[in-house]
Formats: sequence, structure tokens, C-alpha cells
Amino acid sequence: MEIVLTVNETKHKVEVSSSETLLDLVRRLGYKSVKFGCGEGACGACTVLLDGRPVNSCLVLALAADGREVVTVEHLGDSRRPHVIQEAFIEAGAIQCGFCTPGMILAAQALLDKNPKPSEAEIKEAIDGNLCRCTGYVQIIEAVQLAAKRLKKKPRKGAKSTKI
Ligand code: FES
Ligand code: FES
Repeated sequence: MEIVLTVNETKHKVEVSSSETLLDLVRRLGYKSVKFGCGEGACGACTVLLDGRPVNSCLVLALAADGREVVTVEHLGDSRRPHVIQEAFIEAGAIQCGFCTPGMILAAQALLDKNPKPSEAEIKEAIDGNLCRCTGYVQIIEAVQLAAKRLKKKPRKGAKSTKI
């Protein structure tokens, strides 16, 4: 079946099978920041924003994304032009192996979009579905707090779509 979806402001018209997941589709389209972790909704490594809301893309059928907007972390920025949240993660030491990081950053982005001044409890709730095996979460929470502070001073939209 053919669907049309927008990923990072780029329209894609693609053939999908009835069983293909959104995770497999976005990776097939080249958005490799979206990771396969557990494949069953338990780790958050496959998080994307679907119409602005974080979802586990391993649990969403590609067909369900027809006509909708997907955002992956490539849309926020890259190593040459990192987004404020990405800079904050680096500065706070919130990245070790980096496997969870794209999903964490998108969860943080969705939180800060609707709540620019989240409490620690609200940050914990927002990243509740995103597992990190490396950092112990303290630095991740500090990174989101740092990003919130900086975005308050200097709001900045994400960079344009960057394919990897
Ligand atoms: S791969 Fe989707 S939640 Fe783990
Ligand atoms: S940095 Fe390794 S899983 Fe989070």
C-alpha cells in the first residue's frame, strides 16, 4: 500500500506492507537516529514525534502514519549545528553510549515544547518511558533543566531537516 508521510519536513510517498512498523519505515528512509532497542514498547530507543507527540515507533504501524508528520532527532540539529537540547546533553555529560540519546532528546523536546519550565518530577515523568543503561539519569535530568534555562533565554526552533 502507498502512504504519504512527512519526515522532518520532507514528504515521502512510499510503499509499505501491512505489518511494517514506523520504526522500520523511518530507518528504511534513512533516519538512522531512530534505534531498535526492545521492539516491544519497553525502552523508548525508537521514540519519534508523531504530530508533535512522542511515540514508540516500534509499536506504530507505518500505515498509521499516512498523512501525518514525523520528527526524528536529525531535525533538531547535528554535530555542526547542535540544538540547545543537544548541547545541554553534551555539556551535562548525559551521553555515554548514546543509544538512548535520540529518544531522550525527543522526549525532552516534546516536554519543553508544552512546558518550558518543568519541575524535576515533570522531567522524570516525561522520560519515564526512555531507558538508559549508562548514565543513571541524574545527568539527563540536569541536561533537560539546563536546556530549559537556555531555551527560556534564547528560544530557538530546530534546524531544518538534515538527512544522514
Ligand atoms: S524499540 Fe521501541 S520501545 Fe524499545
Ligand atoms: S547513554 Fe547508553 S543507554 Fe543511555
